[in-house]
Amino acid sequence: MKGYIPEDRIEEIRNRVNIVDLVSEYVTLKKAGRNYLGSCPFHKEKTPSFTVNAEKQIYHCFGCGEGGNAFSFLMKITNMTFPETVRHLAGKLGIPLPAREFTPKEKGHQDLREILLRVNHLAAGYYARTMRLPAGTRGKAYLEKRGIRTEVIETFRLGYAPEGWRNLRDHLQGEKVPLKHAEQAGLLVSRKDGDFYDRFRGRLMFPIEDVNGNVIAFGGRIIGEGEPKYLNSPESPIYVKGRNLYGLARAKNSIRRDETLIIVEGYFDLLALWNHGIPNVAATLGTALTREHVDLIKRYTGSVALTFDTDTGGKAALERSMSLFLERGLRAKAVVLPDGKDPDEFISKHGKEAFLEEIGRARALVDYYIDEVIGKGTNIDDRRGALKVAIPFMAGISDAAERGQFMRRVSERLGVDEELVRSEVSRHRPAGRQEEAQAPRRATAGIDPVEISLIQMMIENPSRIRDVVQGNILAFFMSDVLKSLGETIAAGHREGESPSLAGMVERIENRAVREKLLELTVSAGQPDSAVRDRLFDDTVRRVKERWYKEKQRDLRVRLLRAQEAGDQELFNRLLDEKERLRHEQKECKG
Ligand code: UTP
Ligand code: MN
Repeated sequence: MKGYIPEDRIEEIRNRVNIVDLVSEYVTLKKAGRNYLGSCPFHKEKTPSFTVNAEKQIYHCFGCGEGGNAFSFLMKITNMTFPETVRHLAGKLGIPLPAREFTPKEKGHQDLREILLRVNHLAAGYYARTMRLPAGTRGKAYLEKRGIRTEVIETFRLGYAPEGWRNLRDHLQGEKVPLKHAEQAGLLVSRKDGDFYDRFRGRLMFPIEDVNGNVIAFGGRIIGEGEPKYLNSPESPIYVKGRNLYGLARAKNSIRRDETLIIVEGYFDLLALWNHGIPNVAATLGTALTREHVDLIKRYTGSVALTFDTDTGGKAALERSMSLFLERGLRAKAVVLPDGKDPDEFISKHGKEAFLEEIGRARALVDYYIDEVIGKGTNIDDRRGALKVAIPFMAGISDAAERGQFMRRVSERLGVDEELVRSEVSRHRPAGRQEEAQAPRRATAGIDPVEISLIQMMIENPSRIRDVVQGNILAFFMSDVLKSLGETIAAGHREGESPSLAGMVERIENRAVREKLLELTVSAGQPDSAVRDRLFDDTVRRVKERWYKEKQRDLRVRLLRAQEAGDQELFNRLLDEKERLRHEQKECKG
């Protein structure tokens, strides 16, 4: 099977990788008691709450709830898939894996990709050099007129495509590039007679790079007025619109520290910010923000500031980008510059400080949306209309905590009862995804603390598994999720597996349970064995007590109902049952 990695190798990697070393490549860790502590790379925080436990090979952030093992850490921070992560770690540890075989088709694809990147690289060099020659004077003068500094021009490898139909064509031919490839890269256009001509003529050239700095496409601005203002490379095997953000390759280092990424629309907006010493910026190049964009951003930061023109934004586009950010858990701010200015015009006129002030005082995107789209109305009818607009949107927010916040703000803003908003929204929620365990932080609130600590003890100390099984304690569990987790652990134990949380986390699908277990494990002290025994016995007793209490309550209700219905026979049976339970409970206390 292609890309198949044997289970025992994964296990070997899991055993050999050291999570402290791995995390240290991304986060500065300090020893703190039994754990290591650092600033969470997954959310912004002032006091470190990102905790790594070397002994258990797990991590957990008390701030945002993120947690897992070495694999999940690497997946999360690099955005790699599980197999990619495994291969990456195997490479590091020198553990041989069966080679990933490329199908002939994939191989061809890989080769073509490299060829096209090379062609683009050559073209970028050609355009940049041309701008320094007399043939490039118009381009150079245009950049000068717009005040773009030389360093910025060099950083972005800006260039000039001279007038004429065969300049690049001839250059590439001189470089022995098959012109067919240059056509595939979108640089040349084929003619009926089989020859090719330059697509970009008399334009200022912007090489578009992927995050690794490969040139994957070009945008060419006309000098002065004319149509189209920008001519862009067509899509190709290496360039798909909506997958890249212009400038991200250059911005990524400055946003590593979870600094805000400023998102602008145009090439010149980005250049203008750089010109004023602001490098944490990327441009969407006039297209709507996509989920792929957001995932790409998420590799580098959890915080964005979106600049847009009030008029061009449009409600649909705004809703869409807001749901994307909410869905992916990014904090987003809306920057609306005064007088409908774009970032280039604004910063050129008012300077860096004024611009950063605007970023600083920008509202959360959610608030902006509420103010501008929902909350415009002043009379009852307007407000009712506004609510109608907002409900389906709110129902679509998957994260329960975000949704809750949003509903609260909307109800405040519109002056309607929050309960009403909540019930309307929940009616609109797609079936089957009611309150899922996705919400960060609050998710663990619903987890039964007693039952989960018993689970944790089973994982910590396998001899407890036997005790739990023999005492049939899982039967007293009230949470189905935890009960079945307990049963899975018991079943694994019967088959000779020794449970380890690091080995198990990936299989625990319920996020809240996973989070809580990591939290408990990371925060657990190391009491001596007498204390541990007492803790265990206490916990077992509490699990049972609660079960009995619940049963008794249930019986009380049923007794009352039987009495009301005049069902003497049922009443007597229930009474017997109640007595029997009380007896049983006494016994197990004894
Ligand atoms: P703008 O018209 O705002 O461009 O379009 P700009 O970058 O600010 O350019 P200047 O300041 O007028 O010189 C925003 C982006 O939309 C894309 C480009 O990526 C542009 O940067 N666009 C615009 C096109 O692809 N084609 C066009 O014809 C116009
Ligand atoms: Mn502009």
